[in-house]
Amino acid sequence: MSSVKEVGGYKLGDLIIEGKTKQVFDLPELPGHCLLLNKDRITAGDGVKAHDLEGKAAISNQTNAKVFEILKSVGVDTAYVKSASPTAFVSKKCTMIPIEWVTRRLATGSFLKRNPGVPEGFRFTPPKQETFYKDDANHDPQWSEEQIVCAKFQINGLTIGQDEVDYMRKATILVFEILEKAWALRDCALIDMKIEFGVDEKGNILLADVIDSDSWRLWPSGDKRLMVDKQVYRNLTTVTAADLDTVKRNFAWVKDQLDYLKPNIHHKVVIIMGSPADIEHCKKIANAAQDLGLNVDIRVTSAHKATAETLRVMQEYEDTHGALVFIAVAGRSNGLGPVLSGNTSYPVINCPPPSDKLPQDIWSSLSVPSGLGCATVIYPDSAALMAAQIIGLQDYTIWARLRVKQLQMATALRHSDKKIRSIPVGFGACSDCSVRRMGGPALLTILQEQELVNAAIDIFGDWFRKWKIEVNPKSAAIYFPESRLETPCPLNLFNRPVH
Ligand SMILES: Nc1ncnc2c1ncn2[C@@H]1O[C@H](COP(=O)(O)OP(=O)(O)OP(=O)(O)O)[C@@H](O)[C@H]1O
Ligand SMILES: [Mg+2]
Repeated sequence: MSSVKEVGGYKLGDLIIEGKTKQVFDLPELPGHCLLLNKDRITAGDGVKAHDLEGKAAISNQTNAKVFEILKSVGVDTAYVKSASPTAFVSKKCTMIPIEWVTRRLATGSFLKRNPGVPEGFRFTPPKQETFYKDDANHDPQWSEEQIVCAKFQINGLTIGQDEVDYMRKATILVFEILEKAWALRDCALIDMKIEFGVDEKGNILLADVIDSDSWRLWPSGDKRLMVDKQVYRNLTTVTAADLDTVKRNFAWVKDQLDYLKPNIHHKVVIIMGSPADIEHCKKIANAAQDLGLNVDIRVTSAHKATAETLRVMQEYEDTHGALVFIAVAGRSNGLGPVLSGNTSYPVINCPPPSDKLPQDIWSSLSVPSGLGCATVIYPDSAALMAAQIIGLQDYTIWARLRVKQLQMATALRHSDKKIRSIPVGFGACSDCSVRRMGGPALLTILQEQELVNAAIDIFGDWFRKWKIEVNPKSAAIYFPESRLETPCPLNLFNRPVH
């Protein structure tokens, strides 16, 4: 196998690593990438039990590809790039973090041995997260969060500290919950799952390695007796050809079922505006909604001036879509949202356009006649988010995109915080004027990143206020007031050195 020179048109370089079930090859013509070639091999008990199983490589490769395609489609950062051949795929080349991240919904297996008294089937809410140090010789011992942080793994220039551990913990649970919801579409209970992370050459933590039938416990109808995962093989005391065939059939069934894990519901978000003058506001809602994976239509019709037409448009969508949300955009007196709401059982969100008179006009959206239940928000992003939350009840991919976005926002803040924590902060008087300035050059440089301005406001807000320094998060600029400068103002800290 190691003499293979080319797979799926990809010229192979050095064998980077060979494990029990895969070989990892460098791809010299695709810098930063590698090729993972699956073997027709099944192992358990840290490799103590091992068998050749013809066809397993192809089944595992397709299973993994389908799982990672689902995760990629909802925005999870993964190393997986694409399938290369029936038994191989291209991945971003990572240095692996030697930790197995395990998530459990129900207590079973090794958890029961390590936690006597907990009955099998105990349900973890939220899912239980456990970490194991990858060390076959010592049977992958369980590690605490503190052990991981104190190991200070240095991987591709990144030190694995508390921030990185927190990210991987959240991402692990997120990946589990996405796949749990996906499998629920086929009435299969995802019981537990193991994943691994690596660091790519740019220093990004990515979900890497594989997720296939070796990675999880999967119980059709939530019934342990129907299990279709590698546990069937683990449980065998003697292994016959017929047993191996059963294991393979289970794996193939799982691979085929993955094709049906796409949401089977058509959804639509219909933005209806009372006047074409509100198009800019509607476009903002539509863009935000599309970013969340929503299908959007924009229509114009006035409930006041063309009531019958408005109801006809509404009925057109009611007829064709299972998951449907209307967003009503009407200035002045909003008749549109309440009229829609009074005539449909689908959710209606009012999102009136900005106006000087919004404080008065908003009451036409809020104080609706009895029997109506439309909601009201004023920001385009809020309308899109709320529509996504509603559609997400029926479409797990939309739900997943919301969760991924939340993780990304939390992670971006963490990054900002980490950078800002590393800034040397000090205060000194400017030699040319009476203004005191803060920090050293590091602060000025780092503030060029717009996301960090908000973090700077959080930290230095009191100081900015005390010195009447105006901070504009949009332009990433900090202005000193004229009264405080001898030279003309505003002084943009990023274009000119502080004097
Ligand atoms: N994107 C990647 N870049 C580099 N190495 C990877 C990548 N994905 C997975 N690997 C590594 O490839 C190796 C071979 O995989 P395999 O699963 O066969 O190993 P294994 O024998 O099961 O050992 P392990 O217990 O480490 O998983 C593993 O060490 C895995 O961490
Ligand atoms: Mg492995």
